[in-house]
Amino acid sequence: MSGPSGFATRKSLPSGLDNSPAIRRSALIRPDFKRRSGISAVYYFATTRSTNTAAKELLSTGAPDRSLIVASRQTAGRGRNQNRWWSGRGSLTFSILLRPSGAVFAPPNPVPISLVAGLAVVSAIRRMNPGCPVGVKWPNDIFSEDLRKIGGILVESTIRRAKLHSAIVGIGLNVNASMIRAPAEIRNRATSLHALTGHRWNEVGLLGEILHEFFKAERRFHARGFSGFSREWQEADVIDAGRSVSLESDRQTTDGFYEGISQDGAIRMRLRSGKVAVFYSGTLIPR
Ligand code: BTN
Repeated sequence: MSGPSGFATRKSLPSGLDNSPAIRRSALIRPDFKRRSGISAVYYFATTRSTNTAAKELLSTGAPDRSLIVASRQTAGRGRNQNRWWSGRGSLTFSILLRPSGAVFAPPNPVPISLVAGLAVVSAIRRMNPGCPVGVKWPNDIFSEDLRKIGGILVESTIRRAKLHSAIVGIGLNVNASMIRAPAEIRNRATSLHALTGHRWNEVGLLGEILHEFFKAERRFHARGFSGFSREWQEADVIDAGRSVSLESDRQTTDGFYEGISQDGAIRMRLRSGKVAVFYSGTLIPR
């Protein structure tokens, strides 16, 4: 997860987990996977530095819209704010390459795409396990309801002549990964779907559901914008309205009380002065 990489000492894994690769290429090229997921092409790497970096290279060599780039293992996974992304065995690490051809205007800020992607991940998890206690945390996190990180989203987009030329939506998710192996600084702040539910998840099945949900949401987002998602997003938000929070940005930390998301994907915070401030970027920290 976010933070410097490093490896914990080897300990035995909880039952139900093993060391086999999370994803095999053969499962991704099956016609039923392609049909259900809605992808147009698959690029599979047993090991790569980062699927987002691989996606950028593939973009320049003509990879089509809706390409899926998957790695069983990333050696230099990237997170937001130049953080490194740690992912243990049993994690999903993949990127979706979008290169829309129609009249898709650049959103005024890149946040809504990661908000829509987060919602798609949560919908997919709930489809496979309706009671799973997961939700979204603004702007790009998948969290458990007890506020531990399960996954994150890194969107890298290019704009040409005020239109969205490409977007790489990178998603990292702790599915069956054991946190015993995680670097010490993230071990207590992160969890996995396996740890939350006590059962092993089918990684390829979950990946297919995420892609299906994502493409459905993406079509809706590009046709009608984010406002139609704001209520749904609010319902999946793991941070309760009224909670004391801080918003950290490059320049400053602002403290206040969370008021949730607005129609355009910004968050609202009531400051100690009583004023309500709106933020389009930063890291939200529950206190
Ligand atoms: C964050 O929470 O900071 C975002 C993390 C995004 C990690 C994923 S893993 C797949 C894709 N490839 C990367 O290098 N990063 C994203």
